[in-house]
Amino acid sequence: MADNYHQERLDVPAPPAGCPVHHTWSPLNDDYLAEPYAIARQLHDDYDVFYADKLGYLVVTSMSDIERIFTDHETFASVNVQDPVFPLAQQAQNVLAVDDFNPVAVMSNRPEPDHGTIRTYTRQGFSNSRIRTLEPFIRRRGHQLIDAMLSSGSPTEFVEALAFPLPGETVFRFIGFPEEDDEMLKNWCGDRKTFSWGQPTGTQQTEIAEQMVAYWRYCRDFVAHKRDHRGDDFTSELIDAHEANPDDLTYREVESVVYGLSFAGHEAVTSLICNTLVCLLSRRDVWAEVCANISLIPNAIEEVLRYESSQISWRRLTTVDTTIGGYDVPAGTAIFMNFASANRQADLFDNPDEFDIHRPNAARHISFGKGVHYCLGAKFAKFETQVVTEMLAERLPTLKLVEDQLLDYSANITFRGPTRLQVTWD
Ligand code: HEM
Repeated sequence: MADNYHQERLDVPAPPAGCPVHHTWSPLNDDYLAEPYAIARQLHDDYDVFYADKLGYLVVTSMSDIERIFTDHETFASVNVQDPVFPLAQQAQNVLAVDDFNPVAVMSNRPEPDHGTIRTYTRQGFSNSRIRTLEPFIRRRGHQLIDAMLSSGSPTEFVEALAFPLPGETVFRFIGFPEEDDEMLKNWCGDRKTFSWGQPTGTQQTEIAEQMVAYWRYCRDFVAHKRDHRGDDFTSELIDAHEANPDDLTYREVESVVYGLSFAGHEAVTSLICNTLVCLLSRRDVWAEVCANISLIPNAIEEVLRYESSQISWRRLTTVDTTIGGYDVPAGTAIFMNFASANRQADLFDNPDEFDIHRPNAARHISFGKGVHYCLGAKFAKFETQVVTEMLAERLPTLKLVEDQLLDYSANITFRGPTRLQVTWD
């Protein structure tokens, strides 16, 4: 079905004629996963556009091409953004082939004009005022997690202590999921980034596919329950919108928005919180400045999104023959937009490899995309990270990174944040 939420990649067109082909680079290479920026810079210096043979994608490295691609949604469709990069094992395909696994593409991977119609209703739930209603929860739960961290003693592993649980629970409250289901939900949603953006083994694919099916069934039951028990939550608003406009926003689309949101709203925020701490705590003078003046935090977070983003690429698929960087590119070409090079472009940012919380144009980054699919949760993610950073600055000004720890980044082409982060305090 054309509008399935996750699709298999069927064929890989040959590289565009005359386009440089890189035979060894892949965003999954160990050296790139460990430290992408110097390599991304070199790739950009060498080519604006090249074909990555190991990935089967045309890689676009410059901000101007990336912005053009994002804003021309007719030529560059977003239909492939949730799809597995590599073929799925037969067993995983069998798991997903069950009749009742039928989420549809609704937001990031749904073409216009349907996407625009659906977004009219989903956008309403992301207003500033609704996001602000989450603050009491973020603060209450954040303080509980910090208390638990303090009583477990220094040092602590911060991803498990706070950065993973808090964003999950926050988006679950936003959606309206009951608290008692949190642990189960966190397990089900945990590995989606490996499934769609990594290179999992067949066994991993199958396990994750089973979790996805379980999670989808849960979402369906949950929406059905909400239909009869509305509350002050995003899902209730979507059901209201569906009932008022059933042709614009179908019931299956409501279920599918709920299904997609828990991933979109979770681990990228975990990583943004961790990347913020890595950037700030590794520069003691900057952390001291932030602790003394928390109004510096919003621009510091924009700078983190530029300098060490939690999302360093995104994908598109050409719908017609076109040109990119002077090369003729056929319809059906998969595009990999490399934010890691664009966000550090020297002609856009002074001293691009310097982390500067006072940078006047820090927010010029491309980490939330651009155009009709611009991240719906951008304000949500920044607000949550801001609140957490404020709480840590106020309660734990002596917070430090454990020295000499080697940060490990999960193997995927897009999402970037340390899998573990050891912190200490006096
Ligand atoms: C640091 C955290 C985050 C980053 C870096 C990020 C990044 C992105 C990017 C790059 C896109 C695609 C934009 C495009 O195609 O132009 C996107 C789309 C989206 N994001 Fe985020 N995101 C983050 C957090 C969130 C959160 C917290 C939520 C929800 C609670 C969310 C919900 C969405 C949705 C629904 C879309 C699809 C929008 C559409 O197609 O209309 N994101 N995000």
